[in-house]
Amino acid sequence: MRTHGCGELRSEHVGQEVSLGGWVHRRRDLGGLVFIDLRDRAGIAQVAFGPEAPEALARAGGLSAETVVLVRGVVVPRPAGQVNREMATGEVEVRASAVAIVGPAAAPAIPVGRVRGEELAAEELRLRHRHLDLRRPELLRNLELRHRLLQRARRELSARGFLEIETPILGKPTPEGARDYLVPSRVHPGEFYALPQSPQIYKQLLMVAGFDRYFQLARCFRDEDPRADRQPEFTQIDLEASFVGPEDIYAVTDDLLVALWDEAGEEVVTPFSRMPYREAMQRYGSDKPDLRFDLEIRDGTDLVGEGSGDFLRASVARGERVRLLVVPEGATLSRKDLDALTEEARAMRAPGLLWARRGPDGASGPGAHALGEPALAAVALAEGDALLGCWGVDAVALPALGRVRLEVIRRLRLAPRVRHAFVWIEQFPMFVRDPESGALVPMHHPFTAPHPDDLALLEPDPERVRSLHYDPVYNGTELGSGSIRIVDPALQSKIFGRLGLTPEEAERRFGFLLEGLRAGAPPHGGIALGFDRIVMLLAGGESLRDVIAFPKTTAARALFEGAPAAVREEDLDVLHLRIRR
Ligand code: AMO
Repeated sequence: MRTHGCGELRSEHVGQEVSLGGWVHRRRDLGGLVFIDLRDRAGIAQVAFGPEAPEALARAGGLSAETVVLVRGVVVPRPAGQVNREMATGEVEVRASAVAIVGPAAAPAIPVGRVRGEELAAEELRLRHRHLDLRRPELLRNLELRHRLLQRARRELSARGFLEIETPILGKPTPEGARDYLVPSRVHPGEFYALPQSPQIYKQLLMVAGFDRYFQLARCFRDEDPRADRQPEFTQIDLEASFVGPEDIYAVTDDLLVALWDEAGEEVVTPFSRMPYREAMQRYGSDKPDLRFDLEIRDGTDLVGEGSGDFLRASVARGERVRLLVVPEGATLSRKDLDALTEEARAMRAPGLLWARRGPDGASGPGAHALGEPALAAVALAEGDALLGCWGVDAVALPALGRVRLEVIRRLRLAPRVRHAFVWIEQFPMFVRDPESGALVPMHHPFTAPHPDDLALLEPDPERVRSLHYDPVYNGTELGSGSIRIVDPALQSKIFGRLGLTPEEAERRFGFLLEGLRAGAPPHGGIALGFDRIVMLLAGGESLRDVIAFPKTTAARALFEGAPAAVREEDLDVLHLRIRR
């Protein structure tokens, strides 16, 4: 039906007869002349209808926005004054000889052919009419980039000997810490499949089977509260390899990330830096530090002394610590900023925020009083700087100050030191205490191998055991997660025991993995990268919804198709289910 894409026409096509198909983006009537901007995936072409083709002119005059038409005509140069340098096709137009309406369009519920500067419709409305929103060139570009990144990932991993293998969507619950989506079985009353939170166990079994190197562009499902960087279903670049240690996984991941950034036109250099978890927490208050900015947290515990406030001295006497952040030029933070920063600290369960600003007459602010003169002198706060601080146990004070750090960067619009800051965070704790139950839980999943130097601590002091887990972090975002796995079935059983699972429970939940490990397992490890997050970062999007064709809302709803939805009583009967109201 077509000879060219609308966006492909250039001066070299002048004189050619072309056939185009597309959507009426905009129409202008100039009395006796009608101009249509015709849009397809390739871009926009201007089509001119004049008196030389009266039938086409009459039809063009009645075309409404978003109607699909086929147009035939000749490519001509635009008159000198009408060349549009901002359009790829701006030097030419098509003089139409015929037009046929092939897809009449109802008035669009949201504007598609937006005029520059016009605001987007509300997001709920756009998600409800996603087929129209997807006509926006920005979303088209994002999904084109997503496609290229997917293909590049495939090529890079295939070239390194990784086999792409699909693992089940209907499976058994996998342990990534979120809630499972369950699917009732019709043929086995009362039994359920779980949608995979990740292919974790399957990929380990593939290593047990001897596949050596596996990858998958894996769809994962997690019933957790969605956020801007979380969706209930998402895609991982998931991989696993045998006879490897952390360095091998870092190397293949570094190569892959460099390739993906290259595909988006960004040049990055490897190897990426490394940082132990503890250091990341102490210096940046986060296990995903944004290293584009220098601003570092320091330990101010030793500065608390005679002249300091009672509450600080009491905190230090309890063995807690005081963590400080010196903010160059921070004295420009207004009272309103400081109140907002205090709220950020409180939202992280900190009792408050110490703050002081140093003007020409010295330091002032409640933090200045609380710390006292000698402490301030020791910090050597320069004129124009601010001092921020949190006190208490590190588990609270550090993340609180880490969050304050990010908010300070945002409020002061600090300039990044570099454009790309990649870092591997490693030596994570193996276990953490669940804040509510106090129970020991895996910091990641229970198949992560303990650090060989810490094996002796497993019994006496599990919270000090580090693991062979690693996260690649980019500009403050966790790109992925991985680890070297446990291969010794006895050690795996011991870890399950440490986590409070009885042998029967461990066998019931993870028996198929244990059986695999007992069948002769090679040393293995891997990683999963959050693909949607990577596309979002490279597309410059603000939410995963900008890079997923049909995303869910923050209330986990699909507004376009209207899911989830109630089902008929008889459909429930077949599944042996009844709704409790
Ligand atoms: P993890 O659970 O850390 O590890 O997930 C790996 C990466 O997947 C991305 N991610 C998400 N992206 C969008 N929406 C979500 N709800 C979501 N949840 C996670 C993140 C994250 O870093 N099986 C292990 C990996 C391994 O050990 O090999 C796993 O799934 O970018």
